[in-house]
Amino acid sequence: MNEEFVEVVNPVMPKAVPPGPCIVVIFGVTGDLTHRELIPSLFALECNGLMPKQFAIIGFARREWDDEFFRNEMKSSMKKISDCGDKEWNEFSKRMYYVKGDFNDAVSTSYSKLSNKIKKLQSDLGIADNILFHLATPPQDYSIIIKRLGEVSLAKSKTGWRRVIIEKPFGRDGNSAHLLDEDIHMVFSEDQIFRVDHYLGKETVQNMLVFRFANPGFEPIWNRNYIENVQITVAEELGIGTRGNFYETTGILRDMVQNHLLQLLCITAIEPPVNYDASLRMETVKVLNSVCKIDLEKDCVLGQYDAGEMNGVKVQAYRDEKNVGKDSTTPTFAAFKIMIDNWRWAGVPFFLRTGKRLKRKLTEVTIQFKPTPHSMFPTYSRSAMHKNVLTFRLQPNEGIVYTFMAKQPGAELHLRPVNLNFQYDTAFNISEPPSAYQWLLFDAMKGDQTLFPHGDWIYKAWSIIDPVIKRWESEPWIILPNYASGSWGPGIAEKLISSAGCSWNIRD
Ligand code: BG6
Repeated sequence: MNEEFVEVVNPVMPKAVPPGPCIVVIFGVTGDLTHRELIPSLFALECNGLMPKQFAIIGFARREWDDEFFRNEMKSSMKKISDCGDKEWNEFSKRMYYVKGDFNDAVSTSYSKLSNKIKKLQSDLGIADNILFHLATPPQDYSIIIKRLGEVSLAKSKTGWRRVIIEKPFGRDGNSAHLLDEDIHMVFSEDQIFRVDHYLGKETVQNMLVFRFANPGFEPIWNRNYIENVQITVAEELGIGTRGNFYETTGILRDMVQNHLLQLLCITAIEPPVNYDASLRMETVKVLNSVCKIDLEKDCVLGQYDAGEMNGVKVQAYRDEKNVGKDSTTPTFAAFKIMIDNWRWAGVPFFLRTGKRLKRKLTEVTIQFKPTPHSMFPTYSRSAMHKNVLTFRLQPNEGIVYTFMAKQPGAELHLRPVNLNFQYDTAFNISEPPSAYQWLLFDAMKGDQTLFPHGDWIYKAWSIIDPVIKRWESEPWIILPNYASGSWGPGIAEKLISSAGCSWNIRD
């Protein structure tokens, strides 16, 4: 994998068959997610020839916008796509329409307007009766929108399909997730429901599965006999910015751990599925079924950022952010030691760590292998003896690195860790992999649920995190704030790992 030996792969994306004709309806289209991810991703698909031949996008939200305003407002998003220009955008944006409405409106008003608009576009543009609804709204609006779609008879078709994409967090806990699912299942069946965890759409996350199951080399040693520990770090530099209201009711446990972190754990620990299809999701449920109960005081550290310095700039404490209580106990950092009680993983600790305002933005999964049982090399040569480490770097500089020992050139035998390095930019000739949302939207239009968590997974994930949230919200056991912005988190997160005889691979 040394760069000299990398076979230069055709930089053009492999061909894929575009989805069949459909209309995409985005609820909450005036929000940040649509600007940042949804429209840029749909446009990127169009630029790559991966949108349906006949399609239309309808935005639905409260603001007094019209088609023209919607198109102009979204134009700035298109600038993110460097290799497509105004000409392509003008063609694409002609197929964007806007319907003004409140999610709570009666069926006879806004939802009927939406229904009429859909029918008109289907007939004017010759689009078959296939509709993808995307709920990019606050979670409290999901149930009412779905109810109204049922009432206005938009949720069923005799000749085509209906699908609904629902953003995370799916519920606030296990109970509310069940209730939400009941509401959704009154209108849609499980094969029509696409629950988003955008981490599953990341190229690098899918590549973890490919690395494990398309290459025979590592799978035989992917177990407790050879692996000492697994570390999953999702570190962010950003604070909560303008999302104070949202974050105060969510916190890091609901925002990151119950979904992204546990998905990464599952992808690392999953048993080989028979096929790469939606059945893979049941293997991830089995991983969660094997997770041991967490000993909160011993194996869980929560934290909240204090004031500090990020890249030389002073930043404020979480409690001083807008819409955050002065005595808030909302965690912005979490670290866990998780044990998986099954044949493959018994005794191997999985250390998970995530936080806002940490030293660097970095998402990595590292597999730390056990040391050799015996070393034949003289002791003086091994002073810097490292264990072999395999790192999946999800961001930035996406790639896979294997760190192993080599002899340093010279008369004496000195050993030093070196890297085998696969990077997307050099291997595939792209500056960075395509965004996760592109593939999620593409798959949803195609009806492929492989990268969307099943309801059973969501319930199980809540059952692991619910006890932590419950205990923390009634009786927090750590005094906050407990880490400076710009650090790697609270000192006790170091203790959590060192008490197991390990240390974080990434630290100061
Ligand atoms: C989102 C969270 O799901 O993931 C955000 O709501 C977080 O708080 C984001 O910043 C991180 O995603 P990524 O892809 O930048 O790692």
